Amino acid sequence: MLLEKVIESVEYIESKTNLEPKIGIILGTGLGEFVDKIENQIIIPYEDIPNFPVSTAPGHKGRLVIGECKGKAVFCMQGRFHYYEGYSMQDVTYPIRVMQKLGIEKIIITNACGGLDPNLTPGDLLVIDNHINFMGDNPLIGPNLEEFGPRFVDMSKPYAPELIRLAHEAAKKTDISLKQGVYVSYSGPSFETAAEIKLFHSFGGSVVGMSTVPEVIVANHGGMKVLAISCITNLGTGILEQPLSAEEVFETANKVGAKFRRLIENIVDII
Ligand code: HPA
Repeated sequence: MLLEKVIESVEYIESKTNLEPKIGIILGTGLGEFVDKIENQIIIPYEDIPNFPVSTAPGHKGRLVIGECKGKAVFCMQGRFHYYEGYSMQDVTYPIRVMQKLGIEKIIITNACGGLDPNLTPGDLLVIDNHINFMGDNPLIGPNLEEFGPRFVDMSKPYAPELIRLAHEAAKKTDISLKQGVYVSYSGPSFETAAEIKLFHSFGGSVVGMSTVPEVIVANHGGMKVLAISCITNLGTGILEQPLSAEEVFETANKVGAKFRRLIENIVDII
């Protein structure tokens, strides 16, 4: 039973800290160094947590960092689980269930992604205001788990409008330019073809990536408020002449790291 497994994970995590974080943060590819902004850290490797999946993706450390940022308790995942690693949608979103039962109310989800809109530039940060699920799967398929949420989940505001507003306010305060747009999720692990990039853009997508959407769906199922911030590490296939590589993704994520960390820290401060 999922509930029993989740409770076991929650009890283990609670035994390691007296903090009761209401803010959860998932750090995407190349963005893990945000944890340097967390004080009085308790570090828990995923493999120590009963029933927790273990991260295999490069650029993902695979540990929880619980501590304080701007005087607020935060629960931070340094490394996430991707569908393309072979995990089921239920495994990919298991940490969201754990956050829900830990009492997390707001989740800041971050990712590295490709730009679909030629007006975006690698290094830009973007707040997601909607998504298109192009993964061909949904983490809520199967019997509904009433103890977590309802069978049919409203997705009219999957990204909390007040958190989007506060993200812009934090960006302004710190003089960071923050774009806004629609995230298209793609299973990967192959990057998109140029034809797919054209299609996603024509559908109204601004950026494309291989994560986030399953987590957002489950967070909404659990009644948590979501804020999602993308780091555009490259332009989608075919927008520029050059081929796309994972190195480019890590390199840009690294370069924008300081700006990204400052933004997230200031968002934590005001949400
Ligand atoms: N496509 C999909 N996922 C990504 C990309 C991309 O171009 N860049 C970083 N993650």
